[in-house]
Amino acid sequence: MATVLSLSAQPVLRPDSIDEVLKAMTLEEKVQLLVGGAVKTYKDGVPTGTSASVPGAAGCTKPIERLGIPAVILSDGPAGVHIDATREGTDKTFYATGFPVGTLLASSWDTDLVREATAAIGREAREYGIDVMLSPGMNIHRNPLCGRNFEYFSEDPVLSGKMGAAYVKGLQDENVGTSVKHFAANNQESNRFQGESRVSQRALREIYLRNFEITVKEAQPWTVMASYNRLNGPYTQQNYELLTTVLRDEWGFKGLVMTDWGMKDGTVEAVKAGTDLMEPGEEEEMNRILAAVKDGRISMEEIDRNARRVLELVVKTNTFHGYKYSDNPDLKANAAIARRVAGESIVMLRNEQALPLAEGTKVALFGMSSVDFVAGGTGSGNVNKAYVVPMDQALEEDGFLVDEDLKNYYNEYKQHQEATWALAFAGNPMGLAVLRFKGSKIPEPVLPETCFPAKAKSNDVAVVVIGRNAGEVLDRTLADDFELTETERKLLRSVADAFHAEGKKVVVVLNVGGVIETASWKSYADAIVLPWSPGQEGSRAVADILCGKINPSGKLPMSFPVSYFDVPSALSFPYEYNKDGKLGVMEILNGVQSDEKNVGWTSYDEGIYVGYRHYTTIGKEVSFPFGFGLSYTTFAYSKPVVKAGKDGFTASIMVTNTGSVAGKEAVQLYVSAPAGGMDKPVRELKAFAKTRELLPGESQTLSFSVSAYDLASFNEAQSRWETAAGSYQILFGASVEDIRCTAKYKQAKALSWAVNNVLKLQ
Ligand code: BGC
Repeated sequence: MATVLSLSAQPVLRPDSIDEVLKAMTLEEKVQLLVGGAVKTYKDGVPTGTSASVPGAAGCTKPIERLGIPAVILSDGPAGVHIDATREGTDKTFYATGFPVGTLLASSWDTDLVREATAAIGREAREYGIDVMLSPGMNIHRNPLCGRNFEYFSEDPVLSGKMGAAYVKGLQDENVGTSVKHFAANNQESNRFQGESRVSQRALREIYLRNFEITVKEAQPWTVMASYNRLNGPYTQQNYELLTTVLRDEWGFKGLVMTDWGMKDGTVEAVKAGTDLMEPGEEEEMNRILAAVKDGRISMEEIDRNARRVLELVVKTNTFHGYKYSDNPDLKANAAIARRVAGESIVMLRNEQALPLAEGTKVALFGMSSVDFVAGGTGSGNVNKAYVVPMDQALEEDGFLVDEDLKNYYNEYKQHQEATWALAFAGNPMGLAVLRFKGSKIPEPVLPETCFPAKAKSNDVAVVVIGRNAGEVLDRTLADDFELTETERKLLRSVADAFHAEGKKVVVVLNVGGVIETASWKSYADAIVLPWSPGQEGSRAVADILCGKINPSGKLPMSFPVSYFDVPSALSFPYEYNKDGKLGVMEILNGVQSDEKNVGWTSYDEGIYVGYRHYTTIGKEVSFPFGFGLSYTTFAYSKPVVKAGKDGFTASIMVTNTGSVAGKEAVQLYVSAPAGGMDKPVRELKAFAKTRELLPGESQTLSFSVSAYDLASFNEAQSRWETAAGSYQILFGASVEDIRCTAKYKQAKALSWAVNNVLKLQ
């Protein structure tokens, strides 16, 4: 009311005054809204991030005080809140909870659990003054060497899309926004700023966009982050077809699109394409936009459209609603959630009567990662955790007797190596930061051969922890990363020889961020447990599984190939990027323009045959299949019931715990399409569900629903989704290769959904 009485009064931003505020804004003010307002922060000369009011936050939007528009604070993501441990003006230390990485969340196959985890991240973000989390990371695991796979969920778009939706809902339940990223076809780190992904329309629609489509339609994230790369020509952030035709017009996305971090040429194209916010924001970008408005390349409608989306974001935020953040989230409660989530998601890959171990078992604990445990990856995905519980401590807490001699040796080696690094990089904090950023781990020490028989005699079991770390900017290497190092191989062999000679078991814990080669050595291990990078509490969850307090129920969200060269994208991925060392550090960091395959561009030659779609279709053996994971109990699946509905079908199946301990089972529903028509993988995941904890003998009926659209494949020539008529086989699996029972569904009529003929491969 008050504003109406005074002619000179400024409107103030409210959810219902966006029109008024837009009208009152000058062009300059609107353009300010379109370009982020980040301030770079440094510590000891090393860039620590960019922020407005929250150190370590990745960026923000610009506030405009005269119109009551506050800044929106943006922070990474995805495994927890990425803030700095210190804040000016206070001597308090600000830590955030290190949650399990995206790949481990997806291994839970439990969308309710993921939602619960991200609601906890949301509460933490809110208490630190963060409005939007730059997560979830949703790119498809096209190739195991992608350096950021740990942030991403899966090789399958349905699993990834459902996990993305759950992730978004959890955060947004707490009124903290999300930014699903990196949209799209950003499946490698090599040349990430400039490289072009060349993907067929069909593979895009069915694999690389499908997960985003599911998440956007099911959860309406507040924001989407365009990726760094080019896609079939232009940069994604400058692609109208991607950001407007597909994302908004076809999928009904209502939120804001921002760039990934860093200015590119082509700001004008980005504005026109529907990239509403440039992050972290440079003055130069404002100048470019203003100049383009003045000479007519950008219209006022385009400016208003994008500025409106920024305002629509602003009015949703906690900051806008005056939330007084406490800087005091309940880290204790969140640590307990992180631990529980890890425990529900860890995958047991092998168990030849080795696990669970009895209380009081004497454990010979090998491997550098037992004391240098990897909780999460590096780069923007890193979280400033107050602590990471090492494996030795976690095992002791669960009543195991950890060999003192080995424990001391590894701990001393760690201290020694850290001191060596500190000395080598004295006066060069940037160098140390780069080393850490690269995910470099303390190398595995070579133990004297004589120690193995001695340790096998004095202990009951060997636990060997194999660790890997990775992060943005670099992809992983084939040698010494995907494959074991020679030292690791020797360690495993020596441990296995010595312990097996004594009739004792060997357990391997894979504390890795991405898939590694397992086929050549897995027979050395009597058990293999895969916690990925499980967050600050993850080792405790591993210990709980080793002693049987937790019955593992995680399953693989991707396939483990026998060899790297079995991966369908093996050769059409930069697995030898810069092998000849031609690229300097700056070229690696900034990217290069090049006509060379696997340098300037990557061709997604395998089309839709990503991961298990390839292996199952050609009958290729894998080391561990998609969806695989063992339990301490067994489950029987009843005869399924499949009912045709008006739109697709519903299915149900009863799962019974037929073993002797309580446990949970994730059931996967795959579909085989009728023969004839389009070329399709032999089976594709369409739905999944997980039981509650079932006591021995207890049963639960799981329900699934699959729409006719879910069954569709993309016909490029017709530019439409098509569901063929005919008889579909519905397969209920404990993994993609362990199909327990099948049923039929008859699709009476062929159906199709026409879409815009866009995103063509040039
Ligand atoms: C990453 C994004 C991240 C952003 C802000 C970029 O380098 O690719 O995932 O959200 O930085 O930190």
